[in-house]
Amino acid sequence: MAQENDNRTRREPGSYWMATNEIPTYPSLQSNESTDIAVIGGGIAGIITAYLLAKEGKEVTLLEAGRLVGGVTGNTTAKISAQHGTIYSTLMKTAGEKEARLYYEANLEGLQCIENLAQELGIDCMFSRRDAFIYANTEAGAKLLEKEADAYWKLGIDGELAVVDAQAELPFDIRQALVMRNQAQFNPVQFLGGLVKELEKMNVKIYENTRAVKLLSKHDPVIQTENLSRLMCNKVIVATHYPFNDSDGLYFARMAVNRSYAIAAKVSGKIPQGMYISVDQPKRSLRSIEQEDGESLLMIGGEGHGSGKQTKDTMEYYKNLEQTGREQFGLEETLYHWSAQDMSTLDKIPYIGTITAGYDHILVATGFDKWGMAHGAIAAKLLTDQVMGRDNKYRGMYKPTRSKMKTVDAVSFLKDNASVAKELVKGKLKMPSKTIDSLSNGQGALVKHQNERAGAYRDKYGQLHLVDATCTHMGCETKWNEAERSWDCPCHGSRFSYTGEVLNGPAVKPLKKLEE
Ligand SMILES: Cc1cc2nc3c(=O)[nH]c(=O)nc-3n(C[C@H](O)[C@H](O)[C@H](O)COP(=O)(O)OP(=O)(O)OC[C@H]3O[C@@H](n4cnc5c(N)ncnc54)[C@H](O)[C@@H]3O)c2cc1C
Ligand code: FES
Repeated sequence: MAQENDNRTRREPGSYWMATNEIPTYPSLQSNESTDIAVIGGGIAGIITAYLLAKEGKEVTLLEAGRLVGGVTGNTTAKISAQHGTIYSTLMKTAGEKEARLYYEANLEGLQCIENLAQELGIDCMFSRRDAFIYANTEAGAKLLEKEADAYWKLGIDGELAVVDAQAELPFDIRQALVMRNQAQFNPVQFLGGLVKELEKMNVKIYENTRAVKLLSKHDPVIQTENLSRLMCNKVIVATHYPFNDSDGLYFARMAVNRSYAIAAKVSGKIPQGMYISVDQPKRSLRSIEQEDGESLLMIGGEGHGSGKQTKDTMEYYKNLEQTGREQFGLEETLYHWSAQDMSTLDKIPYIGTITAGYDHILVATGFDKWGMAHGAIAAKLLTDQVMGRDNKYRGMYKPTRSKMKTVDAVSFLKDNASVAKELVKGKLKMPSKTIDSLSNGQGALVKHQNERAGAYRDKYGQLHLVDATCTHMGCETKWNEAERSWDCPCHGSRFSYTGEVLNGPAVKPLKKLEE
């Protein structure tokens, strides 16, 4: 069985959500057009925002660089929850009790927004209310949960220590658990597929394979796309995950990017009905997926690391998840495996609002720290209110231009930026020892080519793909990612396919192709 699983994870990665659901396709923008509001990015934040604005009667155009929902949203684990690790004890300390309570309320509203939309529009998306648990295997982890439970109590959060409930569902010993009641899970691709159909009915223009590369004028915005067509508009919503125009507001210096992995597998053991996440390392996230044929799969997530900072062959991360599945749940077969990345901000609160002081026509939603389902909906509501000139009680908390940089944020800021500076230099110093000839089929590596560094991948047919592996964002050297067959940048998380196309921003330009 181990051999069979190994063969499966050698296949192309792809999430359960993307593999089992269809989203209609749309043309790319080929000429110059104008619109009232341009929403850039067709993930959860962009699609719900486009829907809410169109419902307000606004003329909306949605631009997507690739396929709708094909970004992080199509590769998430899709728990909709206000339980974000031990965020409340942290926020009580860094942002204060009032803001911590506001954060909880905002996330409950985000969750409720998704449930309401699914119900009102009759979208069948496996939406199901579940309790969410954090569990601890170590004494230190148990202490963290007890502290978090105190924060729950002070903030009036519906939850408590619940080791007995959690132990009844988990097949391994735990020391402590903390529950947040009545959260939810769903299928994000089915949900957003339903919303996209509504966008069509409301005459929202949708363009796929249309990458925004530049904002030509910031006060009367004109968006330039990769193929040089232009979209003129009155307001721009940047929902591109990592803002593509990240130099406005220096987002690259204010966010850290983290990648993690997931599998969906058939198991012989009992699948927990609650949604679980460990507080200890190695991090594990568990939830069920109820398939249409009535059979359930277990989803196991975890193995996070800084994007482009993998310390081993990335296949190993999937294998570690499978090992957890085999040892604890009787994993029989891995049907799907995938990975994705998300950004965290300096103070762990997303940036939602005006991109930077003085640019009121350009709004952004980013930095969801792997909790972007409820936050995607919050962003949509908040940005819609901002466009409509309405107040929103969460505006100050999420404001990207909030200026109070606390000591703990400043330390994280300095550490992240020092690490970028190090990567910029480190990557250039060493000439790779490998050569093109040493690559077998299916292998990629940095190689020495014509006395220069180059990124090389020999595909399964033996064809060689050579690129300049220098990231087009700010010039750091990318690293080969074996499992995803991509070039990943350690500085701000841009990723490129082996032929050089952009997979993840902030980069907007492909890697330069090189001749053999
Ligand atoms: C492994 C993993 C598991 C997660 N699990 C959970 C979970 O259980 N619960 C939870 O709440 N959150 C979870 N998250 C976080 C959540 O999935 C994300 O925060 C959320 O999906 C981000 O949505 P988005 O709309 O901002 O980005 P995306 O879904 O990435 O959408 C952005 C879109 O913009 C497009 N785009 C990018 N650049 C451009 C450009 N220049 N022009 C035009 N289009 C562009 C992209 O192609 C993409 O489709 C997880 C994240 C990861 C990485
Ligand atoms: S992502 Fe910024 S230099 Fe590569």
